[in-house]
Amino acid sequence: MEPRNQTEVSEFLLMRLTEDPELKIILFCLFLSVYLVTILGNLFIVLAVISDSHLHTPMYLFLSNLSFTDICLSTTTIPKILVNIQAQNQSISYAGCITQISFALTSACWENFLLGAMAYDRYVAICHPLRYPVIMNPHFCVLLILLSLFISAIVALLHSLMVLQLSFCTDLEIPLFFCEVVQVIKLACSDALINNILLYFAVSILGVIPLSGIIFSYTQIVSSILRKLSVGKRYKAFSTCGSHLSAVSLFYGTGFGVYICSAIPQSSRKTAVASLMYSMVTPMLNPFIYSLRNRDMKGALKKLMGGVPYFL
Ligand SMILES: *[C@@H]1O[C@H](CO)[C@@H](O)[C@H](O)[C@H]1NC(C)=O
Repeated sequence: MEPRNQTEVSEFLLMRLTEDPELKIILFCLFLSVYLVTILGNLFIVLAVISDSHLHTPMYLFLSNLSFTDICLSTTTIPKILVNIQAQNQSISYAGCITQISFALTSACWENFLLGAMAYDRYVAICHPLRYPVIMNPHFCVLLILLSLFISAIVALLHSLMVLQLSFCTDLEIPLFFCEVVQVIKLACSDALINNILLYFAVSILGVIPLSGIIFSYTQIVSSILRKLSVGKRYKAFSTCGSHLSAVSLFYGTGFGVYICSAIPQSSRKTAVASLMYSMVTPMLNPFIYSLRNRDMKGALKKLMGGVPYFL
């Protein structure tokens, strides 16, 4: 196959969800509801935290930033999936594909850092409560958030530029419902060795460092809770950390699921489903995981809802 110049590639083809017209309608409604729930749930958290000054603590600022990234992550993928369910052909433009890759990478990477920051925040709060105000001071939190956003954006930019260097041949079918960097690199017919090296390097550094921080933090937290707190206080501490841990496991579980599935040949359908879980289910569930069990958050939401009539 003659490699075509990359400027000639004008579009990629995505996987088709279904041909069945009835199923199409069901899936469309399902995905639309997932999207609306995600946007509304996360928007509520962002607004609740911003509007309630009691919630201007590091944990809630991280949480509202996490909600913001969830909105970004689902907005990069779901609207295009909704369009493609209805469309005859499953194409996505070259520029659209690169845009999806860079936004999805930025938000996934940022989310990963924020989950790490939240774990660290809980670790300091529970294991070193006296030093907490000093360590997690507002400047440090803003720095942490901005730095992680900056790193995520740079990483995403680097990978997107590297994808731009590739040339593609005639087989432009991406076995997923949206553009994802690993799959796009696989389609290249020019040498993609450097892309792959960079990718695995980035995944191992950026994924493993926050994840080991998270594992360390929560092991310390659990042992500290068991050692220090009375039974009554244990319950509250465990319920906060339990909800954090479920969000973390959901994010990393589905994330690693995608990468493991995509390494196994002949499992493209599974990879595609795993990637849907990753980009749709995680952002949708995060608000529920964090706010349903949380009294401060419920109070803030009530206030927010109560305030609505005054704005009208
Ligand atoms: C993210 O965190 C920063 C710094 O703590 C805060 O000022 C900002 O309001 C947060 N952003 C969102 C969308 O919640």
